[in-house]
Amino acid sequence: MNASAPILLFDSGVGGLTVLREVRTLLPDAPIIYAADMAGLPYGNKSEAEIAARVAGLLGRMAERWQPRLICIACNTASTIALGMVRDVLETPIVGTVPAIKPAAAITKSGVFGLLGTEATMRQSYVDRLEHEFAGGKRLLRHGANGLVPLAEAKLRGEKVSIDAVAEAAKGLVLQPHGEEIDTVVLACTHFPLLEDELRAAFGDHVVFVHGAQGIARRIAHLTLGQEFTRTGPDRAVTTGELADFNLLAPAFAAYGIERLEKF
Ligand code: DGL
Repeated sequence: MNASAPILLFDSGVGGLTVLREVRTLLPDAPIIYAADMAGLPYGNKSEAEIAARVAGLLGRMAERWQPRLICIACNTASTIALGMVRDVLETPIVGTVPAIKPAAAITKSGVFGLLGTEATMRQSYVDRLEHEFAGGKRLLRHGANGLVPLAEAKLRGEKVSIDAVAEAAKGLVLQPHGEEIDTVVLACTHFPLLEDELRAAFGDHVVFVHGAQGIARRIAHLTLGQEFTRTGPDRAVTTGELADFNLLAPAFAAYGIERLEKF
């Protein structure tokens, strides 16, 4: 293994930064390339076929270009749709991001817990299987909250995001029958933990939020155990979209240790 081979983190936008934060904690020396498919953002309202084609195509080209030691699909939507397909076509180890239903089912005391993700994630059989396997005897309420994604993107561009706007995008979760009994919410979109303060204000302090970023970072650390890491240059982030727009995110990326922004 080449010590300078990067770990590639992939998301449609800035959501993967919530995973990057945890990866930094466990693997501070790991060279990172953060790839944002801003030209494809948002994924949450796209079809399965479109998401699978984009993700598999882009990751194939990126793997060829950078020879990463590991790829993390830091996006629930892309993972629940395309993880199997990407694993079939690439030899690089792939870590996906799947809704943290298992830990949340263990935490809920009321027995009613919520799942907030994109609309595309909510309808995946992958999610049905997790519910079936881990939420037996509990009630899991789902809500596709596509509206939270642009709010998280705006927040990281330094724009003011109101609690009202976040509450409006998420309220469909609690307006369902038994919604008022929810005491635990799975944030099943990597963008959503970026809005955790606003979500807490919207849902109230009695609700516990659960997401998978720490578990994903632990998995990455486990799969790279014993490997050497050398940084030969600053970590970078690349976008499939316009660099001028991406540059608005420079302060946010800098806060995660990424100083170089480029076009893919
Ligand atoms: N961050 C992505 C996820 O985890 C999705 C955001 C989007 O592109 O809609 O699902």
